[in-house]
Amino acid sequence: MKEMILQSKVKVCVYDELSVADKEVVDAARKATSGSYAVYSHFNVGAAARLAGGIIVSGSNQENAAYPSGICAERTTLFWANSQYPDKPVETLAIAAKTEQGELSVPIPPCGACRQVILETEKRFGNAIRIILYGAKQCYVVEEGIKALLPLSFDSGFLE
Ligand code: THU
Repeated sequence: MKEMILQSKVKVCVYDELSVADKEVVDAARKATSGSYAVYSHFNVGAAARLAGGIIVSGSNQENAAYPSGICAERTTLFWANSQYPDKPVETLAIAAKTEQGELSVPIPPCGACRQVILETEKRFGNAIRIILYGAKQCYVVEEGIKALLPLSFDSGFLE
């Protein structure tokens, strides 16, 4: 039997090494954690998207007593961006999180459902989305888009 090796390239750095433009979108994600409604998990997630033309929009996780009715920060942000600016491709998505102890020191990765929505957003606009996962001690920068985080993905191509 043959094997396929699926490889992903992720850059590892600290916040200070990010460009000014990347710091701006990361800072928007960090700030957005303050708008999180996380009364059940106490895990406050913020996300921010830089759109073509430079507009930055942000969002946070919004929980619900009926747990599955809540939504993650990434999907809040992408759905808001895509509904307010349906013609503007998302170029960069940043994610940050904090708890009662403060900001996470490690990068916070998107959940599976959010990865699927990031994929759909890439397909919709036809471009890879740079993804920056912020941690106070370490950041990950995924330049090649969601395929690095969601290999063997299901997309609209299978429905044709
Ligand atoms: N959460 C996000 O907002 N984004 C992620 O990528 C992971 C998890 C939220 C969902 C829930 O409100 C809380 O974090 C705990 O899972």
